[in-house]
Amino acid sequence: MKTVGVIGAGQMGAGIAQVSAQAGYRVLLSDMDLARAEAGKAGIAKQLNRLVEKEKITGDARDSALGRIEPVGDVSAFAPCDLVIEAATEREAIKRMIFENVGKVLGTDAILASNTSSIPITRLAQASPDPSRFMGVHFFNPVPVMGLIELIRGLATSDATVAAVEAFGQSLGKRIVHANDAPGFIVNRVLMPMLNEACFALGEGVATISDIDAACQLGLNHPMGPFTLADFIGLDTCLEITRVLFEGTGDPKFRPAPLLVKYVEAGWYGRKSRRGFYDYSGAEPVPTR
Ligand code: 3HC
Repeated sequence: MKTVGVIGAGQMGAGIAQVSAQAGYRVLLSDMDLARAEAGKAGIAKQLNRLVEKEKITGDARDSALGRIEPVGDVSAFAPCDLVIEAATEREAIKRMIFENVGKVLGTDAILASNTSSIPITRLAQASPDPSRFMGVHFFNPVPVMGLIELIRGLATSDATVAAVEAFGQSLGKRIVHANDAPGFIVNRVLMPMLNEACFALGEGVATISDIDAACQLGLNHPMGPFTLADFIGLDTCLEITRVLFEGTGDPKFRPAPLLVKYVEAGWYGRKSRRGFYDYSGAEPVPTR
């Protein structure tokens, strides 16, 4: 495997492009237009500059990683790719349209993988050019820091596809875990109920945002409390995944907390909208309740 295509130059796509380029792959990075793909590469340059400043990598390593990333305006340039990773918006209709476009140029041995956090892989595979060469490859945010990749095979995914993507993931220095194509896979199946439960606890007046966060951070040794983490992930994303768990299992234990629904309806999505459970408009995040 030499050339990797990454669709989506947002936080996840840029992270995937960065770690792939640092591992020596040639990367084609696409978004809705060339300007967005170029902005994604500029963000990667910033991240790599930070690593140089901290003396984690050399200036030469930064330059060669950046030199391997080519922003492109659309997926029509993806014919040389051995592996294409889709990290676009978490909407099924958008992903289906992307797969249709990639299908027009994808090589006959090339693999298409989706970074979806919640859409069933077997269903998505139906929109891919060849379901045997399609699977889920779920990275975690921030991609350069998080040491895990979940691999999810659909019903039709071939053993050769799983082996090739596993080898790719290992070459990035990540630990690979295999999950079945069940709602939330492993991490979100366990994580989202915790974040959702924190919202129930807040809504019921058990404690404040700061105290729930401090309790979980220090009492469980988690790097972030649940509200800080939910704001970091995006409350819209948390709600979306919780709904997938609820609808996919039919189990009422996964029902979304009313307060989480309310925040999303208010447009308070977390860090990306500068307000979620914390207000990010000042120098330090301030709890909103
Ligand atoms: N990109 C690259 N590197 C980053 C980064 C970013 N966005 N943010 C932080 N880092 C690096 C820093 O450079 C630093 O590196 P160093 O130790 O080599 O100097 C290191 O991470 C620690 O960063 P900081 O000291 O600035 O801050 P923290 O110690 O608070 O760490 C954090 C930040 C790594 C984000 C940590 O708080 C953390 O691990 N939080 C939990 C993240 C998490 O759970 N992610 C998974 C979300 S779930 C998901 O992605 C699935 C999806 O489907 C929802």
